[in-house]
Amino acid sequence: MSQSPAERAAELRKLLHEYSYRYYVLSQPALSDADFDQLYRELIALEQEHPEVITPDSPTQRTGSDLSEDFAKVQHPAPILSLSNAYNADDLTAWEERNLKLLPGGTQLTYTLEPKLDGLTIVLTYEHGVLVKAATRGNGEIGDDVTANIRTIRTIPLRIPSGRAHQTAPERLVVRGEVMYLKRDFEALNMQQVEQGLPRFINARNAASGAVKQKDSRITARRPLTAYIYAVVESVGLSLAYQWDILQFLLEMGFRTAPDAALYPTLSDVIQQIPTWESHRNQLEYEIDGVVIKVNDLRAAAELGYVGKDPRGATAYKFAAQEATTRLVGVSFTVGRTGRVTPNVALEPIFVGGVTVSNATLHNFDFVRDNDIRLGDKVLVKRSGDVIPYVSGPLVEQRDGTEQPILPPVECPFCTTPIVQPEGAVDYYCPNVYCPERVYRQAEFFVSRGAMDIDGVGAQTIRMLIDKGLIRDEADLFTIHRDQLMELEGFAEKKVDNFMAGIQAARSRPLAQLLTALGIDGVGSTIATSLADRFGSIDALEKATVEEIDAVEGIGEVLAENIGKWFADAYHHNVLEKLRTAGVNMLGQERFRAGEQLAGLTFVITGTLPTLSREQAEDLIEAHGGKISSSVSKKTSYVLMGDSPGSKADKARTLGVQIISEGELRAMLT
Ligand code: IVH
Repeated sequence: MSQSPAERAAELRKLLHEYSYRYYVLSQPALSDADFDQLYRELIALEQEHPEVITPDSPTQRTGSDLSEDFAKVQHPAPILSLSNAYNADDLTAWEERNLKLLPGGTQLTYTLEPKLDGLTIVLTYEHGVLVKAATRGNGEIGDDVTANIRTIRTIPLRIPSGRAHQTAPERLVVRGEVMYLKRDFEALNMQQVEQGLPRFINARNAASGAVKQKDSRITARRPLTAYIYAVVESVGLSLAYQWDILQFLLEMGFRTAPDAALYPTLSDVIQQIPTWESHRNQLEYEIDGVVIKVNDLRAAAELGYVGKDPRGATAYKFAAQEATTRLVGVSFTVGRTGRVTPNVALEPIFVGGVTVSNATLHNFDFVRDNDIRLGDKVLVKRSGDVIPYVSGPLVEQRDGTEQPILPPVECPFCTTPIVQPEGAVDYYCPNVYCPERVYRQAEFFVSRGAMDIDGVGAQTIRMLIDKGLIRDEADLFTIHRDQLMELEGFAEKKVDNFMAGIQAARSRPLAQLLTALGIDGVGSTIATSLADRFGSIDALEKATVEEIDAVEGIGEVLAENIGKWFADAYHHNVLEKLRTAGVNMLGQERFRAGEQLAGLTFVITGTLPTLSREQAEDLIEAHGGKISSSVSKKTSYVLMGDSPGSKADKARTLGVQIISEGELRAMLT
């Protein structure tokens, strides 16, 4: 017997209440977000069709609140609304049809298409051009006053118009936008966390939210947050008729607006664009979970009004979830170049974020313990952007009692040395510097791009050399003989030539590259460059005190000590001596300037170039007086494009910036 709408609604309410409780209160999600969404949508649809089944405790009546007792409260001048969702083209067409019925016959709607930025909503108030208030969304009517924290975000103008706009600011302007981390900034933040021995942030959105809700705004100031503004909530002294004009106006006032937003004459044009957005999602520099489609004509949008808390004039097209549930069927351990042991898991293969995933990382053992992840668990797997898929938590109520705890190994799986956990450390380590896996990882890193950049010495070759006992550390690569290589499987004259040429070239790499390649924990290319600039040689750095290292820009106490310890270690000292004896450059030099042909020009690089690595292309451009920028703007002189370019190429076309190939770049240098 089928259920009545009221019965089904009651059932859905019960399920949703239970799952929300597990998710929010217990932090033990029992369903993936997509499954939860589906139940939620079913309830919304049912309530729309049968408004009499709505009860005050229905989860659809809750707008959500992130209010905190730590902050003063701000009453928003107008409700900070949410958006209805669409999941396919039919949903969008139905949305337009419903809207057209509510508007005068013959109305033709145009639309803006904007990224749905995955961040934290903020509401900014400007009076006579001055930022006077910044608030979180809160419950939609009242938000937390986070003005002091928001002022630290550099992409938020403290006064508008900022820059060179000719307009003046309206008397009062309340705007809405999203605070978030750009992907690269989030990665950098996590690198810094690790360098400082602090835990990584798992989720960029939550981390951004946490940063904005800090009690101490000095902490927020240290977080590389970005803000994008996409709507005007209220204004005095401004009258604009179209959303597209609003975006242009916001831009002129000096805000970053919804990036890559575009205006389309019909809904079918919008629909055609969506697959491109979805497929480029992981190449964008910001995180999105869909796109937002807005009726461009603001008068029509106002006339359409609201359904519950959602305006009819806009809708969010949500992309396929980048998380899914599957079973954790195996555990293995990797040992990195520093000896750090990382737990990894085998999963029953699952399609998530557009790819089939059968392995994932568990980050570290604290993470495993804090989240109580066990072998045999049904788990939630996430994959966002290009990051390694990770297990975000177990579905505890699906356990049958056979699940086994995941513990650190007692001995190294590669060399059987007992595993240690240094005092105060989160991680476990294989302490054996001659552990073949550690040597392999370090040598593989040493030759990689960005490190010593040695073409002709691949990971497989390194593996063979270690297995055959021909190398015990990366320095031994420089003393291998041709004859020894010739005896290796798959090696012939040509391959040996490449190997030897690669090694020879590596002898004269700049100091900063050598410093990066040594694999000192926390020393990436930026820190390596600072060290090379300050000390000028490996010798000087070896003799430096921790205080002297600490004094270098960008280096903190923990890292300085770490660097000091690295050089004091006998094993590392030996490796350095061998490298020195083998003729590897250990001195810095003035940055080489080959010419001025590119003086005054700014380049953006995208895609894989035919012969140059990205670093080499950057060096080449800078050596001829050019500048490198990471994003395309009207000020970009040229976009240097290779294979599989990202969205930068599209942006260049939109802005009319000239695109050149590597060949054309070379021609400019002659
Ligand atoms: S418009 C009434 N535009 O997505 C105006 N929202 O699921 C509603 N969001 O709460 C918002 N990017 O926090 C709009 N380009 C964009 C957006 C955007 C992200 C967020 C916003 C909203 C949520 C709705």
